[in-house]
Amino acid sequence: MEIQIKPMAAQHAQDVQRLSEQLGYPLAIEQIEDNIRKVISAKDNSALVAIADEKIVGWIHGFKAMLLETNPFIEIGGLVVDENHRGKGVGRKLIERIKEWSLETGIHDIRVRSNVKRKEAHQFYRNNGFTETKEQKVFRLKL
Ligand SMILES: CC(C)(COP(=O)(O)OP(=O)(O)OC[C@H]1O[C@@H](n2cnc3c(N)ncnc32)[C@H](O)[C@@H]1OP(=O)(O)O)[C@@H](O)C(=O)NCCC(=O)NCCS
Repeated sequence: MEIQIKPMAAQHAQDVQRLSEQLGYPLAIEQIEDNIRKVISAKDNSALVAIADEKIVGWIHGFKAMLLETNPFIEIGGLVVDENHRGKGVGRKLIERIKEWSLETGIHDIRVRSNVKRKEAHQFYRNNGFTETKEQKVFRLKL
């Protein structure tokens, strides 16, 4: 299967929405499109789609995280591969591109937060050279 990686564009909103639902994040198409426009025009962000058989089969979003107490790092904000195209190297290719972009921006540290329930994703990250550094709880305040 030939996999092409391309920059994400607003016209990909429908596919991004479909895949985001598989990730467990259903969102209105208008909101997804707005998010894409903002992300792709923002500095220090990289959003990519994977194309196979002329269809979008995955996406990834990485961004530069600036915290006070650590050196800057790239965080993977989201990654999903279509459930019918998993296990074929699509996720690895998306990660490879984010690694290249990270090095281009001079950052040698990539991090990802992954729900403790996503055991398969954890194995995926291990197989792609990531090591587990900590478990954490996420707190949220809705206003
Ligand atoms: C996790 C995910 C992105 C992996 O994408 P993928 O295209 O299926 O992965 P690849 O085919 O590129 O696999 C790359 C490596 O990870 C391993 N891997 C991938 N999925 C795996 C699974 N379910 N269980 C065990 N290992 C897995 C592969 O075996 C391969 O390793 P190897 O070549 O050393 O054998 C995909 O399964 C997915 O979208 N899952 C649902 C959403 C999700 O959990 N996203 C991550 C949120 S943090």
